[in-house]
Amino acid sequence: MKSSVKTVDFLVIGGGVAGLRAAIELAPGGSVAVLTKAAPTESGTEYAQGGIAAALSDEDEVCIHYEDTINAGDGLCDEEAVGVLVEEGPGFTLELISWGAEFDKEESRLDFTREAAHSRKRILHARGDSTGKEIERVLINKVRTFSSVSRYDFAFTKDLIMLDNRCIGASVLRGDELINFYAKAVILATGGAGQLFSRTTNPLISTGDGMAIAYRAGAILEDMEFIQFHPTSFYSPSAPQFLLSESMRGEGAVLRNVHKERFMPGYHRMADLAPRDAVARAIVSEMVKTGVKHVYLDATGLKKDFIMKRFPLIYSTCLQFDIDITENMIPVSPAAHYIMGGVKTDLNGETSVKGLFAAGEVACTGVHGANRLASNSLLEGLVFGARTGRSAVRYAAGIMSEDKPQVTDQKISGIGSFDLKEIRSSLRRLMWGKAGIIRCGESLSAAKEKLKEWDVMLKADFFNTEELELKNMLTGANLITDAALLREGSIGAHYRSDFTVRGENWHRHTLSHRDKGTIWINREEDKKICAK
Ligand code: SIN
Repeated sequence: MKSSVKTVDFLVIGGGVAGLRAAIELAPGGSVAVLTKAAPTESGTEYAQGGIAAALSDEDEVCIHYEDTINAGDGLCDEEAVGVLVEEGPGFTLELISWGAEFDKEESRLDFTREAAHSRKRILHARGDSTGKEIERVLINKVRTFSSVSRYDFAFTKDLIMLDNRCIGASVLRGDELINFYAKAVILATGGAGQLFSRTTNPLISTGDGMAIAYRAGAILEDMEFIQFHPTSFYSPSAPQFLLSESMRGEGAVLRNVHKERFMPGYHRMADLAPRDAVARAIVSEMVKTGVKHVYLDATGLKKDFIMKRFPLIYSTCLQFDIDITENMIPVSPAAHYIMGGVKTDLNGETSVKGLFAAGEVACTGVHGANRLASNSLLEGLVFGARTGRSAVRYAAGIMSEDKPQVTDQKISGIGSFDLKEIRSSLRRLMWGKAGIIRCGESLSAAKEKLKEWDVMLKADFFNTEELELKNMLTGANLITDAALLREGSIGAHYRSDFTVRGENWHRHTLSHRDKGTIWINREEDKKICAK
């Protein structure tokens, strides 16, 4: 395989809100390469519907947003990180508006909506249900104004390049070439890992790559067991999965079982706007009771004009599958949506590995605790993306140019042939069935046993993206399963049917490390471990 070398000051891996916002801070500080593994706009951000939460409305206050975030996190949020998010969030959101973001308005005033577990209307949305797309558009345009930023699409990061325990770049597959990018600082912004589950709202690219490559490089990961399952993803055996934004329920849509009965009031005092984990489990319970693989989301009580203006993407997508949501109920079932855990960072995106930074869904800043408050993730990407960019610039100022390891043409050294499609599909079904919404020691141990059969793939040095992606998915699946096994208790989005109470270790965090395995840690101790 052909090899080449590129040297930049900063390497950003991932082109969603966090990566782009970091690049904007990095651009005045030197040359920046932004890598995306698929087309430039293909990111989790692009698909975010509901919106961006920021305390900007007259009825809202930063301290109320803080409390809602802490409550959603179920006791495991890092309070300092939440403080940063909610205090700095409004400023970063207004900045985005000043760069051209067009959030929906009612007459001339910004229109705020509500989602589960928010005690105020505080969610901004764009073109109804295409908020992420609008944010991505604005950030891409902003990045284009910097000549120091180059973009590389269809560039798959194979692994980070390490020298004396420091990250100095990444080796990247692009076409038939292996490019070694050397950089003073590397910023991971690769998004989430929803594709590890057979039902997910995430795009195909969300395979947990950043978490896996950081783990292989020796970075600490935290709280990998906390996966948020979105209650309402379009359900049809013959159609792609598709998110039905929670803001539909925020605007008055309700859930019904297949007998057309409302059920959420019987499960939670907040009924259809209960926290996502409670709604997802209630749906599973109704599906089991009725023996049908879905329930319904009923938006027929909303006015037709309103639906078409507020949810145009959802309306037109459902129509493609012959469901007119103004007249028909929509079949839905839960799906993996967001991972709260990830590569552990401090408030400035620094990981436990020198030279390696992380922001957005791939990172665990601690803002989400055990369960993320809806629409806090675009905000996290903006706030912590920018902070990470700034801290990487500071870090790089102290780096001299270094000798780089010699690059030689790479020999392909796979380990025989695998049926990649079959393993990928089995893995996703395994994780959904055994490590999904409701888990227990038995199901998780069975998952672990099965995962062991594929261990040989974890040791292989692959040189094609399909194999590498699957290797990353297997790494992520092992990390999630190990952490979920360790946490013998139910908290936030992690529900163990064999330990339905929180358990004595509830206030601790799980830490995963290549050499240490998955262990308990208190966040305060952990901060010391991370300190350079
Ligand atoms: C949604 O629109 O329901 C998703 C919003 C989010 O997960 O933040």
